Amino acid sequence: MRKINLVILFSGNGSNMQNIIHNLHNKYFIRGVCEKVCIEIVACITNNPDAYGISRCKDLNIKCEVLSHKDFRVREDFDRELTKLILSYSPDLTVLAGFMRVLSLIFTSKIKAINIHPSLLPKYKGANGIRDTYDSGDEFGGVTVHWVNEGIDDGEIILQESIFRLEAESFISFETRIHQLEYILYPKAILKALDLRSEESNG
Ligand code: GRF
Repeated sequence: MRKINLVILFSGNGSNMQNIIHNLHNKYFIRGVCEKVCIEIVACITNNPDAYGISRCKDLNIKCEVLSHKDFRVREDFDRELTKLILSYSPDLTVLAGFMRVLSLIFTSKIKAINIHPSLLPKYKGANGIRDTYDSGDEFGGVTVHWVNEGIDDGEIILQESIFRLEAESFISFETRIHQLEYILYPKAILKALDLRSEESNG
């Protein structure tokens, strides 16, 4: 049976990474008319040796590589090494899940990757998507999954969903609901990016 290899990149907590592993790792899906395929998370990679997500990988028995950007003099050197490491796992898709690095053409020209951002892009790009949405007073917030290019939170959108702000909602409540939406949206978006569907939806 054809295997679909995923590599996940993260920088910190790793809750999206864990959720993707729970939902997709060693699970079967359908491609085309009726080809059965199996997704495997072949490796997770972090740029932060202190990331909490490293212990999540251990608990889940998933290979985790640490490649600290601090060990490289310039961005391009790190991107080159990261690209090499990713390609050594022959991924069908690379999934950025809270990976807090801007990536240069050295990476984007060789790696087919997607990213999740906790706002309704193109609004509120950057590291504080949830806080910026909340402070804006907008009626809606949301989550976007998009292809990765050299821009910041900039590539073509794959999937996007919104939530209504509740009346007098606290930041903590809003943030929690955004993360819950991320956990629903990201596995769906990965399947969409890979053109796969679940067996149940096969009729
Ligand atoms: C998520 O909100 C994601 O959208 C953003 O960074 C956060 C990562 O959280 N890019 P976690 O590490 O997956 O818990």
